[in-house]
Amino acid sequence: MHAPRSILFVCLGNICRSPAAEGAMRAHAARAGLDLALDSAGTGRWHVGEPPHPPMVAAARARGYDLSPLRARQVARADFSRFDLILAMDAQNLADLRRLAPAGSAARIEAFLPGGATVPDPYYTEDFEGALDRVEEGVAHWLAQLAA
Ligand code: 4NP
Repeated sequence: MHAPRSILFVCLGNICRSPAAEGAMRAHAARAGLDLALDSAGTGRWHVGEPPHPPMVAAARARGYDLSPLRARQVARADFSRFDLILAMDAQNLADLRRLAPAGSAARIEAFLPGGATVPDPYYTEDFEGALDRVEEGVAHWLAQLAA
């Protein structure tokens, strides 16, 4: 497969983990001089049209990631042909994406964290710093893959 140039990050609500991953990857890819098309989406539709969760926006801003322009949307059928790589923030998101993927779709669907580990959901845990730590691990992992 050619190197991924477009990446979609997916979580459940698209207001905490996947926007954080998109924002962090946007910042680190720019620093690395990588030209990537990035987006995020949720498997659920509860928060469609909303900005990311304010405590996550604040915690991300403190690390240099601007999530303020982002708005939640739900994963769409077209995403499976528009993106080279679709990264799931937890095992349930991964299972849902694999079930939703149209037969023969080109996108590679993978866990965001190595080994399929879960990014704990700070919407429930309120541990925004811990979630961002895991997000930065995942971003570093994929940046290394992209540079290889
Ligand atoms: P996220 O967190 O998947 O990291 O965006 C969630 C936010 C909202 C809900 C679930 C997860 N919710 O059910 O409203």
